[in-house]
Amino acid sequence: MSKLSTSKLENDPAAWRGHDMMARDDWHVPINTTQRKELDSAIEHAKGLDKNVLALTKNDFPLPTLGPFLSALNNELEGGRGFVVIEGLPALELDEETGKIALWGIGQYLGLPAKQDGVGSLIHSVRDIGASVESTHNIRSYQTADPISWHNDGADIFMLYCLRAGKSGGESKLVSAVEIFNELVRRRPDLAETLERDFWFDTRGQRQDGARVEVMPVYNRHDGLLTANMKYRYIHTAQRFADVPRLTKRQRQSLQWAQDIANEPGMAMEFPLAPGDILVANNYVTFHGRKAFEDWEKLEEKRHMLRLWLTIPNGRPLPSCFKDSRIYGEAYERRLGV
Ligand SMILES: [Fe+2]
Repeated sequence: MSKLSTSKLENDPAAWRGHDMMARDDWHVPINTTQRKELDSAIEHAKGLDKNVLALTKNDFPLPTLGPFLSALNNELEGGRGFVVIEGLPALELDEETGKIALWGIGQYLGLPAKQDGVGSLIHSVRDIGASVESTHNIRSYQTADPISWHNDGADIFMLYCLRAGKSGGESKLVSAVEIFNELVRRRPDLAETLERDFWFDTRGQRQDGARVEVMPVYNRHDGLLTANMKYRYIHTAQRFADVPRLTKRQRQSLQWAQDIANEPGMAMEFPLAPGDILVANNYVTFHGRKAFEDWEKLEEKRHMLRLWLTIPNGRPLPSCFKDSRIYGEAYERRLGV
């Protein structure tokens, strides 16, 4: 890596320390009373149209002042620190369908929803279905109560809308993918370089063409930006396929160092998502995780999040290896206007 690109990455606003970020409050974005009233009216308006939630457009969900406020968040998500937590939204009073209308409507002001799985679902319910990733090959981490190791999601950004919190635990964790890379370059440049080479990722049975693995680097330097794709868990579960090359000692070490640096004191943020919060983060510059949680007994009281993946209008140029990716291919194509 050249001196120039190293200093550029160190000055990237997306390179931050959790310790510093936790002491700031600018990433909390509460909506005001007027905006909340607009949102409540938009939800009622959209429900009155009797349309499928996935067919609702901005026109069906009018937010005269909240809309531009939400759209402006994209400047923080891409080119800024890479995340925000929108606060003060309705939650406990909403049934699942109404929650979906609210999230979908809000999402329209940030970008275009992208597919989250092989059947093309555009909204996922994130809750524990009583399984574990180790026990079933097509289960994905978000469907469990397990702690989730550092990773990123698909498309440009994800939105995670908390409708109900669990009984205990389940805190969200967020870390700067850029700062982890910078720290690796400082301490173990050889491992940083390994992460810029190909890894084999388990697709969890979610590709329409049936491909079981995808190949791409974890870190990509492209167009002057560092663009990450971290799936620690799925890189390891891909090793169950005999035709996938065995992870080398150096590869295992580089993945472990990235996780370990993320877990060092002061690196990551950890915070509870309360009902009515939406965590929004750029997948290329942040990794997220979640602590294990204990849930409530009754189904209607269980921890419940709704998730959207979106491409945003100011999305960064993507490296060509993202073109054929299950979770980034749509973002890649939209850049090309396909
Ligand atoms: Fe995730």
